[in-house]
Amino acid sequence: MAKIVLGVTSSVSIYKACEVLRGFQKAGHEVQVILTPNAAKLVSPLLFNSLSGRRTIVELFDEDHPWSIAHVALAKEAALLVVAPATANIIAKFAAGVADDFLSTFYLAADAPVLIAPAMNEAMVLHPQTRDNMNRLRRRGVEFVEPAKGYLACGDEGWGRLAEPEVIVRRGLELLRRSLSLDGRTVLVSAGPTREYLDPVRFLSNRSSGKMGYEMAREALARGAKVVLVSGPTHEVPPARAELVPAETAADMKKELLKRFPKSDIVVMAAAVADFSFPGQSGRKIKKQALSGDLKIAPTPDILKALGERKKGQFLVGFAAETDDLEANAVKKIKAKRLDLIVANDVSGPGIGFDADENQALLIDAGGRVRGTPKMSKRELSRVIWDVIEASLGQRS
Ligand code: C5P
Repeated sequence: MAKIVLGVTSSVSIYKACEVLRGFQKAGHEVQVILTPNAAKLVSPLLFNSLSGRRTIVELFDEDHPWSIAHVALAKEAALLVVAPATANIIAKFAAGVADDFLSTFYLAADAPVLIAPAMNEAMVLHPQTRDNMNRLRRRGVEFVEPAKGYLACGDEGWGRLAEPEVIVRRGLELLRRSLSLDGRTVLVSAGPTREYLDPVRFLSNRSSGKMGYEMAREALARGAKVVLVSGPTHEVPPARAELVPAETAADMKKELLKRFPKSDIVVMAAAVADFSFPGQSGRKIKKQALSGDLKIAPTPDILKALGERKKGQFLVGFAAETDDLEANAVKKIKAKRLDLIVANDVSGPGIGFDADENQALLIDAGGRVRGTPKMSKRELSRVIWDVIEASLGQRS
């Protein structure tokens, strides 16, 4: 039994929220309802109290519980947030991070999966501002049950009708299942670039932002895994529940990963390890005049290959960034590094790959099966990659 938080906002389709609530209860879950103050003008909280068997939350500051910070306490317990029906207003507030009522404050405090079922007039649902807000939330991992076409409260026919309660409940239960799909597994993720120092001031590195690896870690956490994130220097905010292990050079990263490899079930090597380092690195800053000659470089250790050689049942995922012959080069790497899956992306195009928010990839498994993805946010791509990893693990067992 999980605790599902049902956010209800002020749409005329509010009556359908009762059936959504019932659907989750029938599946064996406990439901805590949050009504926005406007929704509480349409329907009394008493109705939801009776249905849920719990006191419905409406106000951000509750006189009966002046000391408890209820939105934070509830955020820790919630396994899923479903907002049905969701108005254009609550979607805009979530997208902008406005927290001026209990529901929008709770959204910021919770890190449970979020499912939104919008309901509004067709002009509002199709308005570019609403589409923008929805896309912004999608990029952050929020999922939507798109409104259906049909008879609307305003008397119009069109898009904007709340999806059927059973569809909302089914999607909610899917998200709940997914939130536990990696339960009990330890996932080791590497991310970001490495820096290879010439002297204390200068280094060789690359354009990796670390975004893809951080999203892989975030999604693994969202699916219930224990996550260790070995990260090169990045500007990304690490996911709160991951164990963060900083590693600056390829040699550091190798050491940290090898140490943790035996206790890991799945290893995602998303780091862009620098290919070369400077042998005989100087402990003092080298004078400019002394640098005019050729610099000696030597290859860094191939960490992934080393992991592949030590594999004992771990599922090993590599990444490949290429500008030419994407598929052929990726297939070679699967064999050379004994991988189970490779995520290959073309870094020659603008707006995808290195330091971008979006990516487009080919996923190739050890059996040679190739799946292409459309261009999508790194957040969404991490979900696709984890679905493929889980499907492969399912076939193994
Ligand atoms: O051979 P290439 O560097 O293109 O392979 C990319 C994959 O290998 C990535 O998963 C990357 O993290 C990993 N790699 C590594 N050690 C290196 C270079 C790359 O583990 N020195």
